Amino acid sequence: MTVHIGAKPGEIAETVLIPGDPYRARWAAETYLDDARLVTEVRGELGFTGTWRGHPVTIQGSGMGMPSLSIYANELIRDYGARTLIRVGSCGGMQAHVKVRDVILAMSASSVSTPSATILRELNYAPHADWGLLRAAADAAEAIGAPTHVGGIHSSDTFYDERGDLTEQLTRHGILGVEMEAAELYILAARHGCRALAILTVSDHLQTGEELPSDQRERSFGQMIEIALAAAFP
Ligand code: ADE
Repeated sequence: MTVHIGAKPGEIAETVLIPGDPYRARWAAETYLDDARLVTEVRGELGFTGTWRGHPVTIQGSGMGMPSLSIYANELIRDYGARTLIRVGSCGGMQAHVKVRDVILAMSASSVSTPSATILRELNYAPHADWGLLRAAADAAEAIGAPTHVGGIHSSDTFYDERGDLTEQLTRHGILGVEMEAAELYILAARHGCRALAILTVSDHLQTGEELPSDQRERSFGQMIEIALAAAFP
């Protein structure tokens, strides 16, 4: 057991899917895994382990934002031996050609700062996805016919961001969408020799103001889980 994860040694799989929302972790585990069982519920941040086509998989909620993600990713990697970490979440669209419901595979994740800035200091490290996972996810997304974009995203610390100039520069530089966790996940994976990828559904759009209706969020979330599992075990 760690400070934030109550699973016993051996109860976390090497492959971990990481939604922000613990209830989505439960839904995904019950929907996609065989023999899924709850292995941790510390602070209500649920984690489940089961199998997918015979492969052990854990689905662990991370909470929102990079400080929270950093706690779970650190403990999953350092204490439980996780090696493949795939974030499955939502993002805000930032380009006209990126539509609500589309899937984004985050090739890179820019940020103003991350928890790792405490050690990276003046280094502008470029957090990036694992190429093998990214390629397999692109293949899987194409196979199920999900409208998909591959490119850079922004990992923000501010959901209610009033800095219009930052959004403008990110959009101008081709950033596809904004979320709040991937950059730190990519940095931690790189530091520990792990594989990481963020798969995101566009749930809202910063330019158009369009939002995905809540009854459609589950279906789009399911699509991401299918892509993530197929990418982890191609
Ligand atoms: N996740 C989903 N939509 C978002 C947005 N607009 N900003 C940050 N994170 C998000």
